[in-house]
Amino acid sequence: MQEQSKSNKNLFFSEPLQVGKLRVKNRVLLAPLAGVSDVPFRRVCQEQGAGLTYVEMLSATAIRYKNKRTFEMMVRHPSENLLGVQVTGSSAEDVAIAIEQLDALGFDTIDINMGCPVKKVTSAGCGSAILKDPHRVEKTVRLARQSTSLPLSAKIRLGFTREDVNVTDTVSRITLSAADMVTIHGRTRSESYSTPVDCSGVRLGIQSAISSACNSARPIPVTIGNGDIFDIGSARRMREETGCDGIMVSRGALGNPWVFREILEEQTYNPTFAEWHDLVLRHLDYHQAHCGNTPTAAALMRKHLLWYAKGYPGIKALRDTLNRIESLDVAREILKNFATTLAPETPRFVWCDVDGNANKYMYDPKYEMDRQLDRGVGDEDLTPATQEG
Ligand SMILES: Cc1cc2nc3c(=O)[nH]c(=O)nc-3n(C[C@H](O)[C@H](O)[C@H](O)COP(=O)(O)O)c2cc1C
Repeated sequence: MQEQSKSNKNLFFSEPLQVGKLRVKNRVLLAPLAGVSDVPFRRVCQEQGAGLTYVEMLSATAIRYKNKRTFEMMVRHPSENLLGVQVTGSSAEDVAIAIEQLDALGFDTIDINMGCPVKKVTSAGCGSAILKDPHRVEKTVRLARQSTSLPLSAKIRLGFTREDVNVTDTVSRITLSAADMVTIHGRTRSESYSTPVDCSGVRLGIQSAISSACNSARPIPVTIGNGDIFDIGSARRMREETGCDGIMVSRGALGNPWVFREILEEQTYNPTFAEWHDLVLRHLDYHQAHCGNTPTAAALMRKHLLWYAKGYPGIKALRDTLNRIESLDVAREILKNFATTLAPETPRFVWCDVDGNANKYMYDPKYEMDRQLDRGVGDEDLTPATQEG
């Protein structure tokens, strides 16, 4: 496990992280997020401090057959200093072939997805289905290791179901197959977001990485905790209860890229309305630069706008309007009009709940942000690239 320097002992998350030959500037990563972690969203998260971001999960088959949409998803903006990519596949050989191709495309690190719970993915033997076969876990990482000298990682869950939690064995095999990093999402495949993250399960995985490495005289992989990280409190809890080297933020960044700033500064950060407005407009500009100014681009941006439209007085009405936008210019106009209703210094989440109702909440409403957004078992909503794969 990586030690933090004594000089900065209160700012653990701001310490750099060494992943193989890659130096990551801090310990707060943005997860690969299907349909979400595109260039514009990554850019706003990077600006708020995310140490490492990823292209969303790609299918090994789609990479192998040079699927056009999959290659479009791999586009990197010149401002992106570091960029990871994630792949999944139905056999260790398929994943290794895809990794050879990804290696030549200039990514800084490659992750293997062994955690995706989506039914269409697992029934093709991809994502969390890999966890059901320990030999396949090992073979997948071993062949991947032979296919690239880039920093290599795997993202896993605690097991396929609660009855067959196998995180200790999975992490041991990943460690012995020489991965540089392992990210552990503290849920099983069959658990949805309504099940709170199981930090003790993540801890078991981390202990297994350490003991397997020590017993075999191999380097200890960097360990990353994932699940239910929405703010500095939950980030600290993950760190303290698991001993992880770093954390990966997922739903916590949706509509709240400031979560990186909050965790890195280790104090609650509620943006003022002026900051919020500025960032949302910038995201719109990045989105337009990346996707064009078309109705399709507007449709893709809608989910982000709905996630952003939370936590200021009167914002529910804004959310309802943004839900119907068919052009990015209309979104800008709606935001401009809304801006006339609030003082620039109005802090987010302080005076109201997510819907903008005054003084209703007794706890941090960030926890409410997208608890409902459940890509759990049986979810058929796949990205085109995954479907094609
Ligand atoms: C919209 C969405 C898309 C996701 N896409 C991916 C993906 O492409 N690859 C991946 O490893 N995990 C993906 N995940 C899972 C998250 O990375 C993460 O493991 C999970 O949401 C648990 O973290 P959380 O409780 O903090 O959200 C996705 C999650 C969401 C909500």
